[in-house]
Amino acid sequence: MAEYRTVLKRDELPEETGRTVEVDGKLIAIFRYQGKLYAIDDTCPHMGASLAEGYVENGIVTCPWHAWRFRLQDGAWVDNPRLKIGCYAVREVGDEIQLALHEPHSS
Ligand code: FES
Repeated sequence: MAEYRTVLKRDELPEETGRTVEVDGKLIAIFRYQGKLYAIDDTCPHMGASLAEGYVENGIVTCPWHAWRFRLQDGAWVDNPRLKIGCYAVREVGDEIQLALHEPHSS
């Protein structure tokens, strides 16, 4: 059973935005996009930009620094989907947004 923890309040993540949260020393980017929540590693594997600050279109976030692209759904690098960054289960309970670090996002 995954252990969910509250990381944000609903109001802190309006539609079409991303936020960085820290859980157990890991930086996670949480997005609300087209009514759904997604959580992937925040630190871009290229040079470390914050993906939460990237531009999201068609379910894909583009890194704000050099435009590497990652799917929100599973963390796959769009140019080579066999490579993935971390992707996590995230849910909304009441006015709380909760994250589980140890269970992949189910889609
Ligand atoms: S730091 Fe993300 S593409 Fe370069």
